[in-house]
Amino acid sequence: MFYDIINKKRKGEALTHGEIDLAVRGFTNGDMPDYQMSALLMAICLRGMTDEETAYLTDSMIHTGRVMHLHDEIGGICIDKHSTGGVGDKMTLIDGPLLAACGVYVPKMSGRGLGHTGGTIDKLSAIPGMRTDLSHMEFITTVREAGFGVMSQTADMVPADKKMYALRDLTATVESIPLIASSVMSKKLATGADGIVLDVKVGDGAFMKDEHSARQLADACAALAESYDMPFRAVLTDMEKPLGRCVGNALEVAEACDYLMGKNVSPDVEEVSRSISAAMLGLAGKETSLIDKAISSGKAFERFEKMVELQHGDPHALTDHSLMGVPRYEEIFTAPAGGRITAVKAEAVGLAALALGAGRKKLGDDIDPTAGIFFERSVGDEVSAGETVARMYSSSVTDMSQARALLESALCIGG
Ligand code: URA
Repeated sequence: MFYDIINKKRKGEALTHGEIDLAVRGFTNGDMPDYQMSALLMAICLRGMTDEETAYLTDSMIHTGRVMHLHDEIGGICIDKHSTGGVGDKMTLIDGPLLAACGVYVPKMSGRGLGHTGGTIDKLSAIPGMRTDLSHMEFITTVREAGFGVMSQTADMVPADKKMYALRDLTATVESIPLIASSVMSKKLATGADGIVLDVKVGDGAFMKDEHSARQLADACAALAESYDMPFRAVLTDMEKPLGRCVGNALEVAEACDYLMGKNVSPDVEEVSRSISAAMLGLAGKETSLIDKAISSGKAFERFEKMVELQHGDPHALTDHSLMGVPRYEEIFTAPAGGRITAVKAEAVGLAALALGAGRKKLGDDIDPTAGIFFERSVGDEVSAGETVARMYSSSVTDMSQARALLESALCIGG
């Protein structure tokens, strides 16, 4: 029977809900072997899926696990956000507390870093004592009291996605719009929030390299949200260059704290934060004018401190960043020539941070929270030869030549 389903998709025919459900459930409970699911995934990659099939797939994936009802459990408007993944993307740490300060609950289930892209759980883990492996009740209590909480994706929510994603990663079947849309939206729809904002990253450091495919992904996710009557907005944001000045876990927490305190604000971080928070406030039926007050009153930063405290982290680390660790090694990266910086390619920067120890090369690797890159100069700046462009940090890597070579390949200087 699994053979017939694979064969039908290979021929480009549309699958029924029953057929999709049989494959998804069969694979999750071990009846369908990896080699048959791999073949089906490849057939989907090559032949695509109709909107209807993508909705069936999402529905079947959701029902392999537990479904939450966050609105009812938290007792107020809950807006979720999700980023398709980027380099230097610390937006959850900014927009979560910001929205909480505006009276909107942000219950966030997040993942770890993937390849050259960072993950919110890894960033938060840089804070001493911080726990994200919360029980369901701890999560609900944190969100009720702080307005914002982050927990790791649990094994009982959408288990089909965990197994399918691991297989996709090994079989070159990640880059398929119906597969990405169903993977992202199954996890979001299973939480029972009141609305979802999807930040679709576009450019060199993102899954979606061009605006056309980013728009297609946003549309596929919007169609899924509509079929569940889930209020939804997508924002397309730039991932041609890293977001903000910092890439690396403790560095990004520090940059998010500075932003929430209105200090050292990078214009690109401000622009992306504004568009995500405006979309989240819009879904919650609130005015965007609340944003400025949430920052200037210090309330957004207070929400972050409260959330960290409730999740057993040391809130003092948010003001004294040395408590997240001081990197043992530092090297300066200078401009090889004078001129205007025309590009800082995000993917190579993400890989450079990985080479410094900020991410995992394989599952189970330890992360160095102090590792990362701080950019003193960015796209559009004039630099002279030998001037410092970035600082590389690590406590685990003494030979920074690989990271240096990657930064060299990332940096483009025009005449
Ligand atoms: N993020 C996900 O959660 N799933 C995908 O398929 C791609 C990115």
